Amino acid sequence: MSQRSRDLPRRSCLSVPGSSERFLEKGPTVAADMTFLDLEDSVAPLEKVAARAKVVDAIKNQDWGERVLCVRINAWDTEWTYGDVIEVVGNAGPRLDEVMLPKVQSAAEVVALDLLLTQVEKTSGLPAGHIGIEAQIETTRGLINVEEICAASPRLETIIFGPADFAASMEMPVLTGGVEIADYPGDHFHYVFSKILMAGRANGLQVIDGPYLYVRDPDGFREYCKRTRTLGYDGKWALHPDQVAILNEVFSPTQEQFDRAWAILDAYEQATTHGAPGERKGAVMFGDEMIDEASRKMAIKFVSRGERAGLRRTDA
Ligand code: GLV
Ligand code: MG
Repeated sequence: MSQRSRDLPRRSCLSVPGSSERFLEKGPTVAADMTFLDLEDSVAPLEKVAARAKVVDAIKNQDWGERVLCVRINAWDTEWTYGDVIEVVGNAGPRLDEVMLPKVQSAAEVVALDLLLTQVEKTSGLPAGHIGIEAQIETTRGLINVEEICAASPRLETIIFGPADFAASMEMPVLTGGVEIADYPGDHFHYVFSKILMAGRANGLQVIDGPYLYVRDPDGFREYCKRTRTLGYDGKWALHPDQVAILNEVFSPTQEQFDRAWAILDAYEQATTHGAPGERKGAVMFGDEMIDEASRKMAIKFVSRGERAGLRRTDA
């Protein structure tokens, strides 16, 4: 439900293939912040139509708790998109928070999905605007248009980078998506990560990094996650349950950072509001550091991210 899920954490976003009853059943037992039941690339074309009913059944009959629950539908360049929306949202809408649209190339694709959702919400008795949208940027055209895409609908909650499809779209000479390329002197996706992050933040969206395909390499995964975490991303995909705990840790502030952020807020508030007229200060020393309004803004981000992750102030 868009209102409910907009501000929930998405440190870990677990992909569950929608054609597999076994994985669908296991989904709720994995402590991911967000889980998406996939009808797209992890489902074989011949299983696409049958997977819809399995996904509907899993949404309605399993207990997903408070997590963000999403279904990834097929892209608009296939024959399945409208059927995915009508069957899944029409039959399992009340508990569904959002749908994920892959391979978004233009703002018009998001608008088309928004319009279709509006009709399905009406015919199935859901409140208007109930279903949010997550949009995946994973083609060169999508990246070129990412700014308009991020502003295309009030239903948008997140923008996501899809490194595997993006590498294919760029014709990069790699066979594994979302991992380091040792031959490249630097981070080959740095520009892409930054461009998507800026477009998302400018429109108030959460920004999510996609999969890391070496699922048996937890150390490499942990290391790779730090790139987008350091830039400011909210979370990243997990393709395997073992990746979830790593993500929940890497994408949460530490207790020390959280406490320090609160201390900065207290010091700033003291300096700016206490004292006689003429003595209140906008910039003040905090230990060895000069803090001001920009410091408050940085600290607020840590506090809200930490609170979303369940942290509480040590001395409070
Ligand atoms: C995810 O969908 C990707 O293509 O990386
Ligand atoms: Mg993809």
